[in-house]
Amino acid sequence: MAQFPPPIESPEIKYTKLFINNEWVNSVSGKTFPTINPCTEEKICDVQEGDKADVDKAVAAAKKAFSLGSEWRKMDASKRGLLLNKLANLIERDAQYLASLETLDNGKPYLASYFGDLDVTIKVYRYYAGWTDKNHGKVIPIDGEYFCFTRHEPVGVCGAIIPWNFPLAMQACKLAPALACGNTVVLKTAEQTPLSALYVASLIKEAGFPPGVVNVISGYGPTAGAAISEHMDVDKVAFTGSTEVGQRIMMAAAQSNLKRITLELGGKSPVIVFADADIDTAVETAHFALFMNMGQVCTAGSRVYVEDSIYDEFVKKSVERVKRRAVGSPWQPTTEHGPQVDREQFDKILGLIEQGKQSGAKLMCGGKRWGDKGYFIEPTVFADVDQNSVIAREEIFGPVQQIMRFKTIDEAIEKANDTKYGLASAVLTKNMETAMKMSSAIKAGTVWINTYHVLAGAAPFGGYRMSGQGREMGEYGLRNYTEVKTVTMKISEKNS
Ligand code: NAI
Ligand code: MG
Repeated sequence: MAQFPPPIESPEIKYTKLFINNEWVNSVSGKTFPTINPCTEEKICDVQEGDKADVDKAVAAAKKAFSLGSEWRKMDASKRGLLLNKLANLIERDAQYLASLETLDNGKPYLASYFGDLDVTIKVYRYYAGWTDKNHGKVIPIDGEYFCFTRHEPVGVCGAIIPWNFPLAMQACKLAPALACGNTVVLKTAEQTPLSALYVASLIKEAGFPPGVVNVISGYGPTAGAAISEHMDVDKVAFTGSTEVGQRIMMAAAQSNLKRITLELGGKSPVIVFADADIDTAVETAHFALFMNMGQVCTAGSRVYVEDSIYDEFVKKSVERVKRRAVGSPWQPTTEHGPQVDREQFDKILGLIEQGKQSGAKLMCGGKRWGDKGYFIEPTVFADVDQNSVIAREEIFGPVQQIMRFKTIDEAIEKANDTKYGLASAVLTKNMETAMKMSSAIKAGTVWINTYHVLAGAAPFGGYRMSGQGREMGEYGLRNYTEVKTVTMKISEKNS
């Protein structure tokens, strides 16, 4: 394994206030709320609780920072790129501290924070830093004596509402493209994990972003989150979280100012294993697809369809692999699996496991709480799962693998697409024709072939159907943060 700095098991908590206009402020109401360590169920600290009044202040700051003639609006596009690169460098400088803070607040293994989340975060900022002076319009040869061109302008004040499963990476995926295009942002973190984003806010200030360009609010969804999605001065909202809240945000946008929205929502992604795949590699890929980040991943491969002839062997090997999964303290470098993020998720997952047992699915291993402290759940495998049962249809968002069987490629396609979601999928096969046929037949925003969870700043990401609206990341992601303006000028003579 690559070299890594050891974790800081009790990182100093430096920032707990709201970050508005490059200043640290208390909430207007004076309220605070606790953030909990999911390993111990004990309070880490209290943070300021933002609500509508605080969102109003943050939006006013973002609006002012976006006003014509402001430092941010006058800044050269290439300078925005320098600032984003500087921010990436500062995050890299403090990667050991930030990875430790993320592990403390979220519970994910430190090595995953360090090599996974921090790596993605830094790369996404660098990727979009390169786009700042490349998102430009076109000259269009319209009929008549006119000169017509398009300007790619920023949308304005962008709201970002993010979840708790990858707090740092989610912050980067929202901020980097928004800032690259010249927008200003009000970002609300998830109530379970407010800490790492506040520290990044301090780095945003250190990097030299003007006041009001980025504002970070800690607070709850129905209060601070709703205030952003209903706000008349917020021009766009980017949301990642549950499908149910995504629907609320779409309604709030419709009922307020028709703000632009992008939604990255839930999933129930299929992993389709054909008999010609290398079985040990396929077992490991399907294992990683589901159990990474304790199953708390929107793209989790939570429906594994295995071809009949290798089904029994695949189930046996999957169970053996799950039994070897190292559960324990996220500070230990050997740990693969930490706690779920909070009591609500812990209870939801255990409830769905009960429903799985009652559905007649075969519980092969796991199924209970792990240990007696913290929100740990045993890695769990269900086999012979009925396609119509709750555990085959609902997003569990926990360490619970469902294995099912298929006989023909057409049956695999039908079952894979038999879902309201369409976020990700995988096809495990050595046969190129099978891989290509499946990759066009599956209704999902991502198809992985013989791999899983490969995400990159340069590759677009998003969902079909109830998994969301729009694509984030890559060049496609710039569209969400760009208004196209057509400028047409009368000219006296046209040469071609
Ligand atoms: P959630 O969708 O309620 O929370 C995500 C974010 O939305 C948080 O910042 C939250 O404060 C905010 N929010 C909640 N209600 C809101 C509202 N009315 N208006 C504006 N913002 C609001 O997700 P939660 O409750 O944390 O988890 C519930 C389920 O959602 C999970 O079990 C999982 O199935 C799914 N989920 C999916 C995620 C993904 O990556 N696609 C991430 C987190 C949860
Ligand atoms: Mg919720």
